Amino acid sequence: MTEKPVLQVKNLSVEFHTYAGTIKAIRNVSFELNKGETLAIVGESGSGKSVTTHTLMGLNASNATISAGHIFYKGKDLLKFSEEEFEELRGGEVAMIFQDPMTSLDPTMKIGKQIMEVILLHDEDIEKEQAAAKALELMKQVGIPNAEEHFQDYPHQWSGGMRQRAVIAVALAGNPDILIADEPTTALDVTIQAQILHLMKEIQSEIDSSIIFITHDLGVVAGMADKVAVMYAGQIVEYGTTEEIFYNPQHPYTWGLLNSMPTTDIDTDELSSIPGTPPDLLNLPKGDPFAPRNRYALDIDYEEEPPFFQLSDTHYAATWLLDKRAPKITPPKEILKRWDKWKKFGSKSALPKISKFGVAEKKKTAKETAVPKSGAEVTGKDNI
Ligand SMILES: Nc1ncnc2c1ncn2[C@@H]1O[C@H](COP(=O)(O)OP(=O)(O)OP(=O)(O)O)[C@@H](O)[C@H]1O
Ligand SMILES: [Mg+2]
Repeated sequence: MTEKPVLQVKNLSVEFHTYAGTIKAIRNVSFELNKGETLAIVGESGSGKSVTTHTLMGLNASNATISAGHIFYKGKDLLKFSEEEFEELRGGEVAMIFQDPMTSLDPTMKIGKQIMEVILLHDEDIEKEQAAAKALELMKQVGIPNAEEHFQDYPHQWSGGMRQRAVIAVALAGNPDILIADEPTTALDVTIQAQILHLMKEIQSEIDSSIIFITHDLGVVAGMADKVAVMYAGQIVEYGTTEEIFYNPQHPYTWGLLNSMPTTDIDTDELSSIPGTPPDLLNLPKGDPFAPRNRYALDIDYEEEPPFFQLSDTHYAATWLLDKRAPKITPPKEILKRWDKWKKFGSKSALPKISKFGVAEKKKTAKETAVPKSGAEVTGKDNI
C-alpha cells in the first residue's frame, strides 16, 4: 500500500437551499483515502454520509452549494470539474454501488451485456469478444455460480443477492480507483451489508482499488475497514484507524455507537441506544450539536463547538473532554474494557481481531459469503 492519497477531502461544507431556509448538511469534513485503503463512514440517518460521497461524484441535487473546501482526486481539483468530466469519472475511475440493485441495473438488458457495455465504454481498444470474456470473468469473480449459463439472463431472473453481485461486477468493469458503496436508507440486514463489504474486499485485493463504505452500523465494518470516520450532524466527530475507533474511542457519540452494537470481543451486559434524536440542521443549536444527547456534556459544550484534538498521526476527536482543562470523567464500563485492551496490547498489530460476524476471521469461499435472498442462503445454481 503506497501512502500517496488517491483522494483528499479538505474542510468540505455543503449547504442546501430550501424554502424553509439553509440546511447545513455537511460542515468542515476532511479525510484522506490512500490507494488500496478501505474507509468506513458511519453515523445515524441524516448525518451527511450520502451528501459527502455524492459531492465527490458531482451528484448533489441542484439546490446544493459547496460553501467551502476542496476535493482532490489524484491531485485534480474535483470542484472545478465540468459535468462532462464528472460523467467520465463516474462508473469509471470512481464507481458507486447503490445497494438497491434495481436502481443500477437496466431491467431491459441482459446482465452480461450490461457488464460488457461498461468495459467497452472505458476501453476504446478492446474487441467485443475480449470484452465478453472479461465480463464473464467479472461475473465469476463476484461469485455468480455457472456464470456462462447466466450471461444472457435478465436482472428479473436473478435473486436480490445475485443482482447485488451483478451491480458490483458492473462497478468493477470500469476498473475503478475508488469504489463507493452507500447503504440504502431502508435498513438492510447488517449481516448482508457485512457480506457485501467482505466480497468487495476480496476483489479489492486483486484490483488494488480503494473503498468507501457507508453504514449506520459500526459493527458492519469491524475488522474490515482500515479507517473509520464517525459522522454526527454533518461533521466528522471522530476519525481514526479501525483499531483506534474500536479500542481507544474518545468521543461520547462513538461510545454510544459502540455500546449499541452486539460484539464478540467485549463482554456487554446489555446494549444501549443513544438517547434523543439528531438536531435540526436548519437551526443548529449553539455549541456542540451533540451536547443535548451527551450525558458527559460540559458547560462549554452548550457555548462553543469543540475543536479537533489529535491523539495520534491518524486519530482525531472533536470533544471538549480531551481539553486539558476538562474534568476527568469515567466513561461507560464497556469503553473502559476497550481502553484496557488498547493499553494492554499497545501496538495495534497485537490487538485481537475486531469481529462481529466472524466473517473477518477466516477466508470464506464465494459460496459461503453468498448474499442470501430474503434470509435464505444462496448457494447454488438453483438460487440465481
Ligand atoms: N436536496 C436536498 N435538499 C435539502 N436537504 C437535503 C437534500 N439532500 C440531503 N439533504 C439533507 O442533508 C442532510 C444529510 O443527508 P444525507 O443524505 O447525507 O444523510 P445520510 O447520513 O446519508 O442519512 P441516511 O443514513 O438516512 O442515508 C439531511 O438532513 C438531509 O435531509
Ligand atoms: Mg444516505
